[in-house]
Amino acid sequence: MTDHADDRTGQPSGLDSEETKIDPPPGFVETANLSERAVFDEFVTEWPTCWSTAADRLDWETPYETILDQSDAPRYRWFPEGTLNAAYNCVDRHLETRKNQLALTWIGKRDEREVYTYLDLYREVNAAAAALRAQGVSEDDVVTLYLPMIPQLPIMMLACARIGAPHNVVFAGLSAEALATRMSAADSSLLVTCDGYYRRETAFNQKSKADNAQLRLPYELESVIVVDRLGTELTVHLGEREHDYDKLISAHRGETVTPVARQSTDRLFVMYTSGTTGEPKGVEHSTGGYLSHVTWTTESVLDVKPEDTYWCAADIGWITGHSYGVYGPLALGTTSVLYEGTPDYPDRSRVWELIEQYAVNVFYTAPTAIRSFMKWGEAYPAQHDLSSLRLLGTVGEAITPRAWEWYYEHVGGGECPVVDTWWQTETGAILLATLPGVSAMKPGASGPPLPGIELSVIDEFGEPVAPYEPGYLTITKPWPGMLQGLREGNDRYHREYWQETDTGWAYKTGDGALVDEDGYVTILGRVDDVINVQAQRLTTTELESTIVEVDGVTEAAVVGDDSGLIIAFVTMKSTAIDELTARNRIREQLVSTIGSVAEPERIIFTPELPKTRSGKIMRRLLEDIACGNEFGDISALRNPEVVGEIDSTVRNK
Ligand code: WT7
Repeated sequence: MTDHADDRTGQPSGLDSEETKIDPPPGFVETANLSERAVFDEFVTEWPTCWSTAADRLDWETPYETILDQSDAPRYRWFPEGTLNAAYNCVDRHLETRKNQLALTWIGKRDEREVYTYLDLYREVNAAAAALRAQGVSEDDVVTLYLPMIPQLPIMMLACARIGAPHNVVFAGLSAEALATRMSAADSSLLVTCDGYYRRETAFNQKSKADNAQLRLPYELESVIVVDRLGTELTVHLGEREHDYDKLISAHRGETVTPVARQSTDRLFVMYTSGTTGEPKGVEHSTGGYLSHVTWTTESVLDVKPEDTYWCAADIGWITGHSYGVYGPLALGTTSVLYEGTPDYPDRSRVWELIEQYAVNVFYTAPTAIRSFMKWGEAYPAQHDLSSLRLLGTVGEAITPRAWEWYYEHVGGGECPVVDTWWQTETGAILLATLPGVSAMKPGASGPPLPGIELSVIDEFGEPVAPYEPGYLTITKPWPGMLQGLREGNDRYHREYWQETDTGWAYKTGDGALVDEDGYVTILGRVDDVINVQAQRLTTTELESTIVEVDGVTEAAVVGDDSGLIIAFVTMKSTAIDELTARNRIREQLVSTIGSVAEPERIIFTPELPKTRSGKIMRRLLEDIACGNEFGDISALRNPEVVGEIDSTVRNK
């Protein structure tokens, strides 16, 4: 890991940290939700009681008595006696003060606009909840939502939450096979999907993927609800247990459904993420702890205020969209922007044009998007009035100081804090970030742990390493947003995440990191076989085993390059098909098995893969080749002669 620290972060080692830290803009601090440094002291001296600050942002049906029950650690239970309903907290409780305020502003791919006030949202969520009940959904039944970024997705999530049915959102771009795996693993027999959706000019058929998934399931679905997104005459095509969303909901408009009081530790949703063995893991989130942590961080880290227009650009199909596109902003009663389109359609000004048009105050996106903005150039943001912006957030992968500064200058005009937030599907909410009204920012570092969060960077023996030494990032105290478990059971939960140390349980993040003397953490990337692709997580095993299913392929190794794109290195039998055919088949195989997220940027054929003497593929080296970095130590290689050859193939393309 050592030789990667510097080139990953672009951070010259040994730099005086004061020089690299930037104070929050004074104009921002004046109005910040949180500008008291004392919050850190309170969280340290009164842990875990301090976390009631987060829980008290919510309306509880039954108050909690205990903050944290550690008796069955590491199965921690936050606010255990409390009961509440997430949909009530995100919708009903705002009716008294802001029923006519916008809750959701939706911008469709073809510039369609739809807005929902809190009152509209209340009506829609109630009708959808009544419709789900009428379809036989009871408390704790898992409902799968396979929808793109359309208003029906958050509406259905909240409808599920209202009746206590955990949702299982599957990213719309994932394949039929991925959908089937995630449905059967979650024992889900109700599916909400749509006829199709647009990407740029092209309409994609979502329903055929959903149909295909059903054929792969070992059981029959009880009901499928289909949203008409493309204007296809749905009813003509619907089968026996399939329903047109609009018709179904219309039949229940005007009905109200009492929000079900859920135990704090009851599941709000399950979200599948790539596991280290290649089998997806069903990460289960609680209701009370999750919503408390998400709400508190939306307020104190992203500085969102009820009167704001806030845009989280992440797809709701991933955890960022769940926590910071839906639950956090709605729990605070703010206006959340949902954008179905891509940032470069119809042109590269799209994002800036929307920020100007809707006077967006807080914008949250991923470094992969920021890198594209940089590549397109500062002229695009410069043509728009971005003065409504107050704070900029980033998440999903490390941001280089150069990209950070570009975002700070050219989007924020030097007046908006850029908050680099580190967290994971499993953590539910942000754990590392600067509190923008309190602490200085350090470009390239995800900030120190938030108040109440404690970490340790350790070596392979579990010993803490010195400042600036790379090691494994672990979290040493539980936090409210933490996963409650895995669908796959307690054993896997223990095995995947927990390590017992002298001081108690440590949560293994799977990331490498180093910490400076002020506690700022630089994330060095995954230490397991997970790669972050366009701010989403895939395992090398799932990608590689899919590639080797193609006839003629003998071996494959995949890495992520420095733009978060997949580069596949492939060896073929010499008598097999030609490279062009192989390339096409590999692409098809990846897209049909995993989904369009898995489409590789480049496929590089090589006679051999670089391997260590023990036969392990040296992925770090391939990553260096893909990123154009200098190679680290390759003395452990059995076949060093292939390195030059692969390197020149990569450079010559
Ligand atoms: C992995 C989690 C949680 C939101 C989206 C991804 C990487 C996340 C950062 C950051 C450097 C980051 C880590 C982490 N990651 N945020 N600010 N700086 N790396 O969720 O799919 O569960 O992936 O994303 O490697 O472990 P996810």
